[in-house]
Amino acid sequence: MILNVNGSKYEARTEAHTLLDVLRNTLGLMGTKEGCGVGMCGACTVLMDGKPFSSCLLLAEQAGGKEILTIEGLGSAENLHTVQQMFLEHGAFQCAYCTPGFVLTTVALLDENPTPGDNEIREYLSGNLCRCGSYQNILQAVKAASQAE
Ligand code: FES
Ligand code: FES
Repeated sequence: MILNVNGSKYEARTEAHTLLDVLRNTLGLMGTKEGCGVGMCGACTVLMDGKPFSSCLLLAEQAGGKEILTIEGLGSAENLHTVQQMFLEHGAFQCAYCTPGFVLTTVALLDENPTPGDNEIREYLSGNLCRCGSYQNILQAVKAASQAE
C-alpha cells in the first residue's frame, strides 16, 4: 500500500507489520526508536495527522491515507525546528534515545496548546519515558519552545 511519510509517498508491504517496523526496516527511517515495543515508553512516537501515536502499536495499514511525520521530516541539520533547537540549547537529553519521541510529542502539544503550563506539559508528555532522567531539562526546553514560537 501507499504510505505518506514526511511529505513523500512510499509503496510498502504493510501486511501484519507494525508501522514502526515498516518505518525502520522498509523505509530506513531509523530516527523512530524501538524501546519497549508495547506502548509504554514513547520512544517510537510519530505524528499521524498531527497527533502523537506509538508506532509500535499501530499496524502499518492503519496509517494508509494519513500524513505520517517522523523526526526525519521535522527540520534539518542546517535548519532545526524550534523544538529541536530548544532541546539542544537546554541539554534536554543524555543518550538521546528518547529524544525523537519527546520532540514530536512536544510539537503536537504546542500545536494544540501554544502556552502550556508545567503540569499540562508533564501530563501531555507522560507517555514518553527518559531512562536517563533528563526530565527537568526537557521541561525547560518545552517551555522555551513555547515562548519562542
Ligand atoms: S517502543 Fe513503542 S511505546 Fe515503547
Ligand atoms: S536521554 Fe537517554 S533515555 Fe532520554
